[in-house]
Amino acid sequence: MHSDYQLVRLANGAFSIRDRAAGETFHPVIGPRAEAEALYVRPLRIRERLQSESGEFVIWDVGLGGAANIATVLRSVQDLPGRLRVVSFDRTLEGLRFALNHAHDLEYFAGWEDVCSALLEHRAISLARSALKLDWDRHLGDFPVLLGRPEAAAWPKPHGILFDAFSPARNPDMWTAPLFARLHEILDPRRPCMLATYSRSTMLRVTLLLAGFHVGIGGATGEKEETTIAANTGDLIEHPLDRRWLGRARRSRSAEPLRTPHYRQAPLSTESWDRLLTHPQFR
Ligand SMILES: C[S@@+](CC[C@H](N)C(=O)[O-])C[C@H]1O[C@@H](n2cnc3c(N)ncnc32)[C@H](O)[C@@H]1O
Repeated sequence: MHSDYQLVRLANGAFSIRDRAAGETFHPVIGPRAEAEALYVRPLRIRERLQSESGEFVIWDVGLGGAANIATVLRSVQDLPGRLRVVSFDRTLEGLRFALNHAHDLEYFAGWEDVCSALLEHRAISLARSALKLDWDRHLGDFPVLLGRPEAAAWPKPHGILFDAFSPARNPDMWTAPLFARLHEILDPRRPCMLATYSRSTMLRVTLLLAGFHVGIGGATGEKEETTIAANTGDLIEHPLDRRWLGRARRSRSAEPLRTPHYRQAPLSTESWDRLLTHPQFR
């Protein structure tokens, strides 16, 4: 059968996965492993936060894809005692299947192939590795639809969210204002949660702010100097966006959040600007 996926070699020699139908490469800059560390593992401070958590530490992996991000998370905490719960979301498991068939070239599974293979077969798995206890569930389907259902309120509340959809232009349904508002609404306000994503676009940052998140500068990869980090509490954000950023957002020609899953670019509306000014981050 013809696969929608293809292995591509990046300039630095690392292999990544290209989704031909979406027309996008999963980790196009410095490769899956390095990108997962720089954009998700380090900025979300997963090691430290897992260690200081007495109960379960919960990660939502939005856009499981080839599981590079989550395999890198697992590798980064495999020597720690603790309880990790991962909830992965995707509309297909074919990215993961393709990645496992190319595990040798992709390199990032590094000892977690059997666990990731088990997730292909089972909706939920539980296991222990040394002193780390892992529970891993997956939800297959359209993420905005799943998140909108009442049952989503019963999902384990996250401490960290890896948000890795395709770009807004190609995958606008994953970047709308209603989606991030719902995501913020569903978090437990008593459980500090950080979200990391690769985009640094003004439109995304405004969307997160208007959804109620505090927003700052995330980890850097080679090509982009910065990415984005958001949290439901301001003290988790090390480099918050400031009033200079706000000034640039006001002048930007692409800052207004997407209300519907149709990509377009527009400057900030008066209503969005007024709401931004009242955000606690800028007061
Ligand atoms: C950039 S890839 C994720 C790469 C992955 N995080 C990894 O580390 O290999 C984006 C993923 O988002 C998924 N996706 C896109 N739109 C979606 C939607 N509406 N609902 C659920 N998953 C979606 C795609 O199927 C794809 O696997």
